[in-house]
Amino acid sequence: MAQVQLPTYDIIIFGASGFTGKYVIREALKFLNTPNSPFKTLALAGRSSSKLSDALKWASSTSTSHSTIPFIIADTSDPPSLRRMASQTKLILNCVGPFRHYGDPVVAACVETGCDYLDISGEPEFMEKMEAVYHERAVENGSLVVSACGFDSVPAEFGLMFNSRQWVSPAVPNRVEAYLSLESDKSIAGNFGTFESAVLGVANADKLAELRRSRPKRSRPSIPGPAPVKGSTIEHQKELGLWAVKLPSADAIVVRRTLSTLTDNPSGLPGVNEDDKHAEKRKEFWSTIKPAHFGVKIAAKNVLGVFAFIALGLCIGLLGSFSFGRWLLLKFPSVFTFGAFRKTGPTEEEVASASFKMWFVGSGFSDASLASREGAQPDTEIITRVMGPEIGYLTTPIILVQCALIVLKQRQNLPKGGVLTPGIVFGPFDLQDRLQENGISFDLISEK
Ligand SMILES: NC(=O)c1ccc[n+]([C@@H]2O[C@H](COP(=O)([O-])OP(=O)(O)OC[C@H]3O[C@@H](n4cnc5c(N)ncnc54)[C@H](OP(=O)(O)O)[C@@H]3O)[C@@H](O)[C@H]2O)c1
Repeated sequence: MAQVQLPTYDIIIFGASGFTGKYVIREALKFLNTPNSPFKTLALAGRSSSKLSDALKWASSTSTSHSTIPFIIADTSDPPSLRRMASQTKLILNCVGPFRHYGDPVVAACVETGCDYLDISGEPEFMEKMEAVYHERAVENGSLVVSACGFDSVPAEFGLMFNSRQWVSPAVPNRVEAYLSLESDKSIAGNFGTFESAVLGVANADKLAELRRSRPKRSRPSIPGPAPVKGSTIEHQKELGLWAVKLPSADAIVVRRTLSTLTDNPSGLPGVNEDDKHAEKRKEFWSTIKPAHFGVKIAAKNVLGVFAFIALGLCIGLLGSFSFGRWLLLKFPSVFTFGAFRKTGPTEEEVASASFKMWFVGSGFSDASLASREGAQPDTEIITRVMGPEIGYLTTPIILVQCALIVLKQRQNLPKGGVLTPGIVFGPFDLQDRLQENGISFDLISEK
């Protein structure tokens, strides 16, 4: 009888030589082979072993030497190299972006070989396309494919669920507005990879609309009370002392997908070999989640800060919509984003000094029965907050690595496979506790 070959590595970090990839290595090394860790073996993958070697040196400079970590050469333009990589591991952490350019063949290789896949994409079209193309086969082959396991969109997903769980029956939420505030005493900057992904997202916005038109309509959750009316473009949130404007990120889209899957599966998704204890925990967890309308705004302490965000959005939106404009944006990112994105990325000091606060202002009804009355207006407000270190290169690796550890530790309690959102997959697990232990806090701020 032919022997089934077991994967050699618990985790492979693909794109480990990238700006984010090297911070992901650094975070992963903290958990490699520690007592009781399910994470015993790691390999790094990318196009160049010398770049992987430099990244590993950089990432291990603050801990012990990890010279024995192997390198795997794989390129997204060479599908056999991706299949070879995928067949050697239980789980791939994909940091190769923009995902619209490079993500599809990596997901294809994982689905084909049945290995699990997590990434840090914040690109809705890529995520929805992967769902459309690979979901069924991923379920069949037992490959769990979860995008947005970084700052996009775990704080939004888990922040909304945390707010939702503060509403004790008969109280129900109607809407939750998230206000993201980025803080630092140095300048706040992102790397070119994220900027390029955002510019390409703007350029291809019509493709996302087209994809959605070609797909069956998603189920919508039933939310008590009227839908929120569109407010003014710039909002002054007096309670938080913030000015805010809508943030066109992936967060609200990912949250809506989670709520839609939950509508179809009110007790969440059963694990492939789930034990009774976990099945009970899963059902209990989802029974506490009450769906709400959800939006995200970027906030600043003064109105000038909001004008700066609007100027940045307009610049990317206008120039990103035609090819010469995109060339200018991608050639001179720093000029057109007023220093917010750089080809060289932020310095380590800038990364270390930055942080975020994401406030979740939930409004709803003290009693669900009030919601169905004519002209019903919310009478209750619950404010919660998620707070953590710099978003792209500290918070994102923390989240990705904690999601990975759950996959390694709890595989039997996770769905067999499928292309799914982080909220629906990790909701009933201890991800929030794990994030809290690693510097990302969830707090109840006020109730009235
Ligand atoms: N969710 C979040 O909040 C979040 C946070 C940070 C980043 N991100 C996303 O992560 C992605 C990466 O960003 P970044 O700033 O780290 O970019 P980056 O520094 O440019 O890194 C890109 C990585 O992809 C690799 N790569 C490029 N083309 C490849 C190919 N054909 N085959 C194999 N590998 C290839 C590069 O390898 P080489 O070293 O060989 O060039 C590099 O390792 C972006 O999409 C960004 O939006 C998301």
